[in-house]
Amino acid sequence: MKQKIKEYVQTKLPGIIELRRALHKIPETGFNEVKTSSFIARTLEQAGFEVTTGIAKTGVTALLKGNGPGKTLLLRSDIDGLPIAEETGLPFASTHPGFMHACGHDGHIAILLGTALILKELKNQFSGQIKFVFQPAEEGPGGAKLMIEEGVLDNPKVDYALGLHLWASIPENKIALKAGPLMAAMDRFDLDIIGKGGHGAMPHLCKDPVDAAAQVINTLQRVVSRQMNPLSPTVVTIGTIQGGTAFNIIPDKVHLSGTTRTLDKEVWKGWESRLEPMINGVCTAAGVKYKLDYQPGYPPLINDSAVTEIARQAAAETVGSENVIEAEATMGGEDMAFYLEQVPGCYAFIGIGTPGCAPHHNSHFAFNEEVLGTGVKYLCNLVMEISNARNC
Ligand code: NI
Repeated sequence: MKQKIKEYVQTKLPGIIELRRALHKIPETGFNEVKTSSFIARTLEQAGFEVTTGIAKTGVTALLKGNGPGKTLLLRSDIDGLPIAEETGLPFASTHPGFMHACGHDGHIAILLGTALILKELKNQFSGQIKFVFQPAEEGPGGAKLMIEEGVLDNPKVDYALGLHLWASIPENKIALKAGPLMAAMDRFDLDIIGKGGHGAMPHLCKDPVDAAAQVINTLQRVVSRQMNPLSPTVVTIGTIQGGTAFNIIPDKVHLSGTTRTLDKEVWKGWESRLEPMINGVCTAAGVKYKLDYQPGYPPLINDSAVTEIARQAAAETVGSENVIEAEATMGGEDMAFYLEQVPGCYAFIGIGTPGCAPHHNSHFAFNEEVLGTGVKYLCNLVMEISNARNC
């Protein structure tokens, strides 16, 4: 089967690259992926799939039945681009000014479409069924949760969820896997610090929110360094500060926004109750008021051990066991985590890294398209391995 899949991918790779280039030209941001989702639906329909559109606004799904009853596998690709002006100079560069597929999601779509087209031809070779899921808004505000709320894990009920990300910090054509926590829970918070403005020369007549904000920023780092287990990584980052109009005026208000990260589900649930008392303490001491708006985001992404073992097998069949490496956990977030919160599965990184290559979310981001073939082979091998595994 491994050989057969290899041959199919070799034959279809030029077409898969064409699909990727067409998608690369039309990047659209979260929940605006109108052209992208109709391109996906059209490609699947032309191949004879029955397609459902409009899930989570711009999401697309298609179901493929194998040979007889068995497990239902969800294969997921994200489909959104980013608000970045492309500077790659590629002949198939973005035709949407100010927008770019700078994270590789165009590659993910092409990989999943290629996988769907090949598995359709091999449908007598596996049991159960495959649900292909093309999900909007991974980069924000998040489409996975909405797709689940709209029933993507039901009818038929999904047993396993599988996905991948092209990954620039891993060498080209290596596949990196890790059982357990792989990506961080990611929340956002907004904080208004409200004081009393006045002349910069007379701080004693004011309640200075700038000074209080500075203390809050420092104090929040104490949560990480003094409250958290140093063996369990956590991050608090303040990303924006807004306040003030002139060098000699103490403003009434300062606005901060930030993010928290953790790989631990329990820590994730407790962030607000750790941040709030620190903010409260500082603000009380400074005589200012505050308003904290804490918004839970994506859960930690946790790979199932048994499925990850099978994925290792599929990866070894794809790139050789010497090219299957242990993934390093990252504090980046990924809404694939929502599916993996509900059903066991595995999220993998496919290496696209070359010396000096541009990182993700960079205007020069690009990769060798041969890697798309690796992604398709890996997913096809994985479907065969899981569908035909007895202990799964
Ligand atoms: Ni991404």
